[in-house]
Amino acid sequence: MKNVTVTAPGKLLLMGDHAVVYGRPCLVTAVSERMSVCVEQSPDGQLHFDMPEHVDTRFVSRALETARAHWRLPISDITIRTASQFSGNVGLGSSAAVTVGMIAALREYLGKKDSLKTLFTLSYRTILDVQGKGSGFDAAAALFGGTLYFVTAGKTIEPLSVNNMRLIVGFTGVKADTVTLVREVEEKMKAQPERVNRIYDAIAKLVEEAKPKMVEGDWERVGKLMDFNQEYLRDLGVSSEKLESLIAASKKAGAWGAKLSGAGGGDCMIALVSDDKQPAVQEAITQAGGQVIHISPNAQGARIEP
Ligand code: MEV
Repeated sequence: MKNVTVTAPGKLLLMGDHAVVYGRPCLVTAVSERMSVCVEQSPDGQLHFDMPEHVDTRFVSRALETARAHWRLPISDITIRTASQFSGNVGLGSSAAVTVGMIAALREYLGKKDSLKTLFTLSYRTILDVQGKGSGFDAAAALFGGTLYFVTAGKTIEPLSVNNMRLIVGFTGVKADTVTLVREVEEKMKAQPERVNRIYDAIAKLVEEAKPKMVEGDWERVGKLMDFNQEYLRDLGVSSEKLESLIAASKKAGAWGAKLSGAGGGDCMIALVSDDKQPAVQEAITQAGGQVIHISPNAQGARIEP
């Protein structure tokens, strides 16, 4: 029986959170946790889903609808199996990874030749259909991998050559509701457009400065820029007490910089560290009540597995 398996990575938003929903750039890295999607011909000619783990089935079903419409095919005789290598639902982008995995696996299964840019568009459309709002940075990270400079809706997707970036990830223990947070920020934008746009312009400046500094490996400066970014996110009202305490603990333990990553409200914070400070920062996050999630950045994008 014909079958195709694709895996796609999760992501960490390094800088530019929220601002990237409103036309500004962000920096994102793909991480070593992956989602696997296998598409195979069903022996009984029927459609089957086999999704035993914490996979959001809405994204899988919607991706199938997107693929049907795009390739004008019924695609109704396959079995779709998903498996998650993510350590939990902690905001590392499992929904975008499963969406990209589905779209990429279906292209391969159907023998289509669509470009990566088209796969991005299909994945992003799927995510918007399910959650209503979002910049698409997570789909870009899952598809292209590595570390990217990304502008809203994929207007720019630029791979950056980044080496030796050491990140510690601390989970707050609180699952953030990204859609609700993005809507709350949307309300703030409606109520105080000048203030929020000022914050976003300032964040965009930090991202523009961090981009070459990351390529140069000037981690001390990147850390400072992350700290400034966190101050603006705090101003925007998307940080939380728990995020702040993990961030403060990692800074005290010698991190170059630390901030929330993603929508805020919970999920994860990230700390940028030197090799020698790594153990101390991990210990500090744990002591402050966080859970260290062991990932490495700059992971490979979606790939067909043998
Ligand atoms: C959520 O992980 C990050 C946001 O910037 C939303 C998005 O870019 O889609 C808040």
